[in-house]
Amino acid sequence: MRKPIIAGNWKLNKTITEATNLATQLVEGLGSISDREVIIAPTYTALRRVFDVIEDSPIQLSAQNCYPQTSGAFTGELSPEFLQDAGCQCIIIGHSERRQLMGETDLFINQKVYKTLQAGLKPILCIGETLHERENKQMFDVLSKQIKEGLADLTAEQMATLIIAYEPVWAIGTGKTASSDQAEEAHAFIRRLLKEMFNNEVAGQTRILYGGSVKPDNIDELMAQKDIDGALVGGASLNAEDFIRIVKFKKQIS
Ligand code: 13P
Repeated sequence: MRKPIIAGNWKLNKTITEATNLATQLVEGLGSISDREVIIAPTYTALRRVFDVIEDSPIQLSAQNCYPQTSGAFTGELSPEFLQDAGCQCIIIGHSERRQLMGETDLFINQKVYKTLQAGLKPILCIGETLHERENKQMFDVLSKQIKEGLADLTAEQMATLIIAYEPVWAIGTGKTASSDQAEEAHAFIRRLLKEMFNNEVAGQTRILYGGSVKPDNIDELMAQKDIDGALVGGASLNAEDFIRIVKFKKQIS
């Protein structure tokens, strides 16, 4: 059984005061929820203060990025070890905004995944095709390359805590969600690939989240899909009421 995960990526939003207010609302609204995991990823500057708010709650803290070195002459960067020191348990890696705006390559992303695991944190590896790639029928090739190169040289044991987020670039921040069938098709493909690359167990245990315009009104249908194990939420995670509703998605009785 894969425990569902709902993660909020706050991106470059919320000042320290706003972030601690939002975290306080989430702690109160979610109580001792235990049948699903909840992760929030504030900006670097808000991490420690948010940690102080959520420390005794089930909510886990994530960073939005890291640098694959422990310490040293790397001006402006933060390592998994330093993020752990700030209270993080997870790190989002290879988000499409970083791939597109900062030119991150699959090789660099692979180094970050490796270093994050080495530091004992959980990587949330993001992958996803652009509209152009989808329209040119390159979606499976793109996903396959991002997965194979992003997870290169990892062992089945190292895969135990890794989380994958499928975020089609055309659905991010556009209000255009992938249909549940489109999302399920991609997730099932990713799971088959994990089986090929590792084994049945890894394919069966790895949580694959969907991201891209997830909202309170589409989460239930997305979560009803066999291979969708959760969501990585952008815009709707900035509002406590919306995010709490998404976390409390309704389980379908099969
Ligand atoms: P939106 O939910 O705003 O589309 O963002 C998705 C995302 O990029 C989460 O990482």
